[in-house]
Amino acid sequence: MQKSNYPKQATIYEVGPRDGLQNESGLISIDDKVELINQLSTTGLKHIEAGSFVSPKWVPQMANSNQVLDKINRAQGIRYSALAPNLIGLDAAVDAGVDEVAIFGAASEGFSKKNINCSIDESIERFKPVVDKALAHNLKVRGYVSCVIACPYDGAIEPEKVADVSQRLFDLGCYEISLGDTIGVGTPNKIREMLNAVSKKVSSDALAIHCHDTYGQAIANIVAALECSVRTIDSSVAGLGGCPYAQGASGNVATEDVLYLLNGLGIQTGVDLEKVASAGDFISKALGRDNQSKVAKALSK
Ligand code: HMG
Ligand code: MG
Repeated sequence: MQKSNYPKQATIYEVGPRDGLQNESGLISIDDKVELINQLSTTGLKHIEAGSFVSPKWVPQMANSNQVLDKINRAQGIRYSALAPNLIGLDAAVDAGVDEVAIFGAASEGFSKKNINCSIDESIERFKPVVDKALAHNLKVRGYVSCVIACPYDGAIEPEKVADVSQRLFDLGCYEISLGDTIGVGTPNKIREMLNAVSKKVSSDALAIHCHDTYGQAIANIVAALECSVRTIDSSVAGLGGCPYAQGASGNVATEDVLYLLNGLGIQTGVDLEKVASAGDFISKALGRDNQSKVAKALSK
């Protein structure tokens, strides 16, 4: 029998409170956001993206991230992170006491312009002082690259372009690069091709995969990423989410679905599936919608 190259362990990077909620049109109460993060904090997760310090004109839903971070019960051993696209955002994130920040660029010019209002080159220039200041505050910095397979404005993206932007963010001082299939159009062959190119520039130890599940390919794509030695998987409880600047993109892959997959493959995460499903049920009810996780639905029957 052929030996599988799955790892013994993998890390789940929970992005639900940020990526999951940022696209909601109705304002979600601070108490509901806090309750969600508090429930997630009891599941064994070690990374929770708790908010976003972006312009409130661009993403109104995240405007109260400082109050959310102020009210949560911080559990030991969990890194609570937030997005910070510029120095204004970084200063606000530092004031809110985050453990880690994330900068976010793109492999496509069209998305960069629509999402952060600048070209890729300009974004790298803008990120430099953000990373320097964050590191000076002893904060780890994560780098996102969006549109690693395709862009809603520019179409298909060359793997070499993704590799180039990933390397530029890594060279700035990011400890990890999260590769976003922002509109969820990837298939395993495309994911492999992209990861082959990126891992020539940034070691796969420092890569994460960030799949939106628009076309239902996220779980297959995550298997492909695991086979390419990626060990960190971004996911969102209850499959919440979408990007406000990528129209039609659905939520992230559900954390519950990823946990079911990893449990089945014998890959340890230290995260309790039932507890995550319970947090997912809470937020789905609070938002008045069905839980998007197939696994959570099956478990609730
Ligand atoms: P801009 O308009 O070019 O910025 O936006 P600016 O520097 O000219 O500032 C304009 C105004 O915004 C000023 O206020 C600033 O003070 C204010 P005014 O003088 O007009 O009253 N401002 C801020 N306020 C609060 N916090 C800040 C901040 N910065 C400026 N940090 C900017 C540039 C980057 C700010 C804007 O484009 C922005 O906020 N974009 C964020 C968009 C976003 O959050 N998208 C979703 C997250 S990315 C994502 O979901 C993808 C990901 O999940 C991976 C994947 O799936 O691919 C990560
Ligand atoms: Mg995303």
